[in-house]
Order: sequence, then C-alpha cells, then structure tokens
Amino acid sequence: MGILGVGHFVPPQVVTNQDLLRFVDTTDEWIMSRTGIRARRRALPEQAASDLASEAAQEALRNAGVMASDLDLVIVATMTPDSPMPATACRVQHHIGAHRAGAFDLNVACSGFVYALAVGAQFIANGTYRRVLVVGADVMTKLMNWQDRTTCVLFGDGAGAVVLGAVERGFGILGIHLGSNGGGADSLFVRAGGSRLPAWSADVRPEDYYLQMQGQEVFRFAVQVMGEAALQALEAARLQPDQVDLLIPHQANQRIIEAARKRLNLPLDRVFSNVEHYGNTSCGSVPLALSEAHQQGRIQDNHIVVLVGFGGGLSWGSVVVRWGGIIKEN
Ligand code: UT7
Repeated sequence: MGILGVGHFVPPQVVTNQDLLRFVDTTDEWIMSRTGIRARRRALPEQAASDLASEAAQEALRNAGVMASDLDLVIVATMTPDSPMPATACRVQHHIGAHRAGAFDLNVACSGFVYALAVGAQFIANGTYRRVLVVGADVMTKLMNWQDRTTCVLFGDGAGAVVLGAVERGFGILGIHLGSNGGGADSLFVRAGGSRLPAWSADVRPEDYYLQMQGQEVFRFAVQVMGEAALQALEAARLQPDQVDLLIPHQANQRIIEAARKRLNLPLDRVFSNVEHYGNTSCGSVPLALSEAHQQGRIQDNHIVVLVGFGGGLSWGSVVVRWGGIIKEN
C-alpha cells in the first residue's frame, strides 16, 4: 500500500513575528534564533478543523486522480476537532462527498498524522479497503493564550492529506514505528474540556482551555526521540540512513529538525523544512511538509521518504515510504 496523491491547505492570514510584538513581550530575534519560525497562518474565527481538512483532502484527491465517491474510509488526525463530538472526519466525509466512506478521528496530538497513516495503511494492506483518505488538520491558534509568549509564538494553523491505495510490490509503506510514554502526559496538554475537568465544572479557569507546555522538557524529549523513531522505522524497512532521499520531520522547531538530521547523518538537502513559514501546525505539519516537498519536485519516484512526528502523549512515530509504484488501473 502506498500514497497515490497528496495535498495541503493553509488559511491565507499570515501572522509574522513582528505582528506578535503588538500583544506579547517577545522579539523577532528570540523567536528566530530559538525556533527558526518567521511567520504562521491563522484561521478565521469561523473556520474550524474540518474546513482546513476538507480543502487539503480535495487537493489530495485531485492530485491522486481519485473521486471522493471512490473513498472507502476517511481518517482525520486532529487535536482541535470542530467540537468534542461528532468526529471531525464525519464532517469532512460529508463536505467532500465521500458518501460511501466510513469516517473516524484519531488523536495522538502532533504525532497524529503519522499514526493515522500507519492505521490507514493497514486497511489497504489487509484487503479490507481500496481507497483511504488520511488527513492531518489542526487549528492551533484557537488553543493559544495570546498573552503566553512561551506558547503563542510557536503554533499555526494548517492541514495536509494523502490518498492511500495499492501500489507495486516494493513501493509504498515499507516500515512503521510508533511509540508513546504517557508518563509525560502533563508536559504538553490542555487541562479542561474533557471528562477529567468538564467544561461546566466550577473549577475551570479560562487558562485551562489553553495549550500548556513545559517547553524545555518537550525539547529534550523531541531531540532524543526524532532521530531514534526514524532509525527504528528504517530498521523495520531494512534500510540504512544513507539510503534516505528525504526526511520529512514534524515542523516544531528548526533546532529539533537539525538534531534529527545530525542523528541520521544526513546532508542539509535531504531534510525538508517549512517551519519558518508556518510554525508548528501539529497534525497538519508532516502532511503539509510532504505536500510542499512534492509540489517543489523534491520527491521523485523511487525516493525513500521518511516521515517522523512527535508530540503530546508524549508520543512519537515514523513511517518509511518508497515513493511511486502507482498501478495504472488504480
Ligand atoms: O509539537 C510539539 C510541540 N512542542 C515543541 O516542540 C516545543 C519544544 N520546545 C522548544 O522548542 C523550546 O523549549 C522553546 C522554543 C519552547 C523555548 O526555547 P528554550 O531555548 O528552551 O527557552 P526557555 O524555555 O529555556 O526560555 C529561555 C528564556 C526564558 O527567560 P529567562 O527565564 O531565562 O529570563 C523565557 O522566559 O526565554 C524566555 N522566553 C521568551 N523570550 C522572548 C520564552 N519565550 C519567549 C518569547 N520571547 N516568546
């Protein structure tokens, strides 16, 4: 099973580091030197995850040459669903006209897309389904406390999607590695709105709805886990790091991306980064990077592409793909 097409969507409003200076005590120099982020996108007040997800899905379908009505399943990875229920995937399924498809959400924070890709691939591999749409979409700006400089400068909104189907033997998804350590659950989380602290609870404070993060703790974890996860997935694929044509890491921080590159001993041109333009788009990050890399011609048939994510949970995951091998009668 492999990737037949890929697409992405970001809302048009650009928020630069300079724009942030208007309401938070920070500097362009601090943000650039600590994270490599120059700008991020912000959704409109009325835009939710399913809106971004549907746009990305439609581009992926066009790129794959697949009709929405041919989809068997829609999986949406998100930590900012339109509402706690129903699944955002059901809204996407309806919006794009995938009337034959089942739909469900998957929440593994920023690692969500890599997990969803691994899950979607199983339905193709075991012959249950022919066409699976996997979307990663988040509207992180809605979880931001715009007075908290330790988080609000880092995140942005975006979505990416892939269409999965059968590909020639030796192509497609060759290796998967997923991991988690729930011991670190409180280092990156949203306190309220779930069953532990329901929205109506008298104990809820406004800040409990915002994303909270122990930045340095997550940084240390990320630097350690990104390279390791990629190595494990490569081992599962029986490939060596020097065979990697393009590493597509979770776009959270350029310093973390750089650490992963060094761990795999890859030259600069074999690692894709767009964190400068979009910040951390959580579940959108890996498929948005994949889609841009593909559009820029950085991915060719037969290339070994390694996707790797990490995030809240704590969680991490990596998928190794040999690009191409699309079967014509698909
Ligand atoms: O999808 C996963 C999501 N999360 C991540 O990947 C985040 C991982 N962590 C990080 O990327 C980094 O830890 C950060 C970029 C969040 C922070 O960088 P850092 O080098 O770890 O900075 P720090 O937290 O140690 O803060 C250093 C200083 C502090 O001031 P003092 O205590 O030294 O006086 C902060 O208060 O920088 C201050 N600071 C800021 N200053 C200006 C924190 N945020 C800002 C800011 N602007 N936006």
